[in-house]
Amino acid sequence: MIVNNLTLCYQGKVILAPMVRVGTLPMRLLALDYGADIVYCEELIDIKMLQCKRVVNEVLDTVDFVTPDERVVFRTCERERNKVVFQMGSADAERALAVAKLIENDVAGVDVNMGCPKEYSTKGGMGAALLSDPDKIEKILSTLVKGICKPVTCKIRILPTLEDTLNLVKRIERTGVAAIAVHGRKKEERPQHPVHCDIIKAIAEAVSIPVIANGGSHDHIKVYSDLEAFRQETSASSVMVARAAMWNPSIFRKEGLQPLEKIMQEYIKYAVRYDNHYANTKYCLCQMLREQLETPQGRKLHAAQSSQEICDAFELGTFYEEMVAELAAKAATLQIQAQEEEEAEDPDVIRMAIKFDKRQYPPQITPKMCLLEWCRKEKLAQPVYETIQRPVDRLFRSIVTVSEHKYCSALWDKSKKLAEQAAAIVCLRSLGLPEGKLGDNTQSPLMHKRKVEERELWKDRENEEALSGGAPHKKPHLTLATNNIAPDRP
Ligand code: FNR
Repeated sequence: MIVNNLTLCYQGKVILAPMVRVGTLPMRLLALDYGADIVYCEELIDIKMLQCKRVVNEVLDTVDFVTPDERVVFRTCERERNKVVFQMGSADAERALAVAKLIENDVAGVDVNMGCPKEYSTKGGMGAALLSDPDKIEKILSTLVKGICKPVTCKIRILPTLEDTLNLVKRIERTGVAAIAVHGRKKEERPQHPVHCDIIKAIAEAVSIPVIANGGSHDHIKVYSDLEAFRQETSASSVMVARAAMWNPSIFRKEGLQPLEKIMQEYIKYAVRYDNHYANTKYCLCQMLREQLETPQGRKLHAAQSSQEICDAFELGTFYEEMVAELAAKAATLQIQAQEEEEAEDPDVIRMAIKFDKRQYPPQITPKMCLLEWCRKEKLAQPVYETIQRPVDRLFRSIVTVSEHKYCSALWDKSKKLAEQAAAIVCLRSLGLPEGKLGDNTQSPLMHKRKVEERELWKDRENEEALSGGAPHKKPHLTLATNNIAPDRP
């Protein structure tokens, strides 16, 4: 099927379903290794995604969508770019479109989840709550179809009556979606209830777009050959698998299932290689181990509190050390390269390998304050800080310009504030000025000014009290605002 010049074939395919906590990069790659044609990521909520920025992670060779507090919400890589469908949770067409635009160049398609019956999804009008608001469904889907150049799909559950279900899917079809995934259960039905293959069949016969049949794990799908049987029973174009793939991702392998021990080792290797959060890795491994959680290995996994401990439980300790060392070496090489490029680009910047350590300064004094104070005293323009963040490791570096000269630290920092303080120290040190550090022999003019101001304020208070006859105050604690210096505490 050709959709806006891009091909994502939903016909006769096996698909790793979107699964919260399971559908992260390591599981998707493993499913592709074993023959899945298309992989869905776990459902990601539009509001969360809209906080993210896109970062190219050169160490891992991935593209990361990262929150302001540095949490990776969606990680993907070149290998799956033409295979991964991004599933979102949304109840708002404009927000959905904004997310789709943010990720569309990194994925093969975009799906909207309309089947999640969990309260966290439905209370925001998302997931299965959308099923009772077809106008909203239409708005979201047609906005996406018009607004992006990748195939758009949606995943629904069936409605209480066949008639309503068919009306809904026909309406969905008219929005121009490329395919529709149907989990053949009603929203109040749980996985132990039988999947309604007859309803999926009726849907497949009622629409002309591909229908992806879902809901067959356990009862219908246990091994690869069951996929085709389920497809035929539902007359669908393709089959989407969730739980059976979570229990053993080699379900997609034509030649049959591989032993779990081998699968878990391969999964862990991807998890370490792509720096998956250990808690997520642990969750997925527990789903694979299931009945074996009480074995010695299961107990070790249960106790693991880091990726390294997970690796140890599976005798992959050496692999872990080697992979971590390999990634660290790559990060170091990239850092040096980036540094050399920068130095070549701007040889006029004065650099020193300096880090700001807050513990070396009195509580209310920082190098930035000292520098500002000195500029004021010398009647120079205020220092100007320009900070950049390096994509490779998301560290910061700041260049401060004072009197047309530029200064920066050769070392990168975890935050913008630290980077600015480091740049200020380089400047102060280059100019031979006091840095305001505890135990500095040369007294910083700022310290001096602070003491004078403190004395004056104290006098004012005493005068006020004498006039008002009030009780004496404790010695005032001078705040940053009172000495009129921009608050820039680290
Ligand atoms: C799910 N399911 C699900 N569906 C979805 O559209 N987005 C999601 O993020 C999730 N998350 C999720 C997590 C876990 C742990 C499970 C078990 C299931 C539902 C899933 O995609 C599928 O519709 C059902 O599990 C039925 O398919 P199977 O399991 O019978 O193949």
